[in-house]
Amino acid sequence: MFPFGKPHWYPVEPESARTASGNIMNLSPDHIAFFKDNGYLLLEGLLDPALCAQVRDRMWNSLPEDSRLRRDDPSTHIGPFREEDIQNDSIHLRQGYRWQNREFGTDPLLLDLIYNERICAIAEQLLGKGMLEPPKVGGKLMGSEGAAWPNGPIDPAISEGVRGVYNTLPYGDKPRENDYCHTDGHPFNLGVVGLIDDVPSDGGGFKIWPKSHRRLYPTFQMQYDQPRIPYYAHLPSHKGIIQSPAYDKEIKAILRDTPAVDCWGKEGDIVFWHHRQAHMAGHNYTHVIRQAVLYDFKRTDLDTCRMDPPQDDMWRDWSNELRASDASYSEAFAASQRLTV
Ligand SMILES: [Fe+2]
Repeated sequence: MFPFGKPHWYPVEPESARTASGNIMNLSPDHIAFFKDNGYLLLEGLLDPALCAQVRDRMWNSLPEDSRLRRDDPSTHIGPFREEDIQNDSIHLRQGYRWQNREFGTDPLLLDLIYNERICAIAEQLLGKGMLEPPKVGGKLMGSEGAAWPNGPIDPAISEGVRGVYNTLPYGDKPRENDYCHTDGHPFNLGVVGLIDDVPSDGGGFKIWPKSHRRLYPTFQMQYDQPRIPYYAHLPSHKGIIQSPAYDKEIKAILRDTPAVDCWGKEGDIVFWHHRQAHMAGHNYTHVIRQAVLYDFKRTDLDTCRMDPPQDDMWRDWSNELRASDASYSEAFAASQRLTV
């Protein structure tokens, strides 16, 4: 039933918790409550190791033959990318310490890895049964339309599949840097980061700021979207996403008063995160490349809900189970999620 091992949270549940294929895969009340309170959820061993291995192979095979990075020589894995390996292609970016490959974002391999029955059943428990907008095999890739504005970031909303495989090269001798959290500017409901190889602590897994989703959600003008100022070369002072003064104040306070949780883990571990959660791609102070796949779950009603203002009930567009949760859980459960209180 679980070809790659039972997850540690394997529950004893009633018949209703079974999917069509008979697998039991559902979150406990503690999981639901913890996500509601903290905006994230770490789950172990959710990705198929055979598929993770295939994705790693594809990443290495995507490098040019004469790349300085050699898979079998870890000393070459230390960043940043050397001049000859840099590529500024929005579909396959190699720049600094970031190696982001989006070229197989709508291949069955990546979709089977992260958008499968097992993970979707969990996402549905959070977002509502039958509410997931499916990705499109062979569909449009993130980065296929270039940057959101000249010299700006790639818009993750323009994608019919996963964002891609996001690797971070080890920092080597680079001095330690401060953390800076942000929220994403494009509309989606629920993010997921899946580790396709072991990522040690401090290895750039994914960093989130617990409970920030509840503090930031009301500071936006729209639930999922954000107003943007067009880019004009002759009027360069203002462009792109507009944040409210309340948002700016709150995210600075979060950075000051909230210890981040480092979502490191083993191959196959994943973290779900709320769309308004403060986060960052962590710094990689280890000697191994951080390898992860990123996907954004979208509800089928995102297009009609995206312009709504923040609601009195911030859980309006979530499952009944999540809405009904009283957001209380045990201390032991919080510790298992690396939450320090
Ligand atoms: Fe982000």
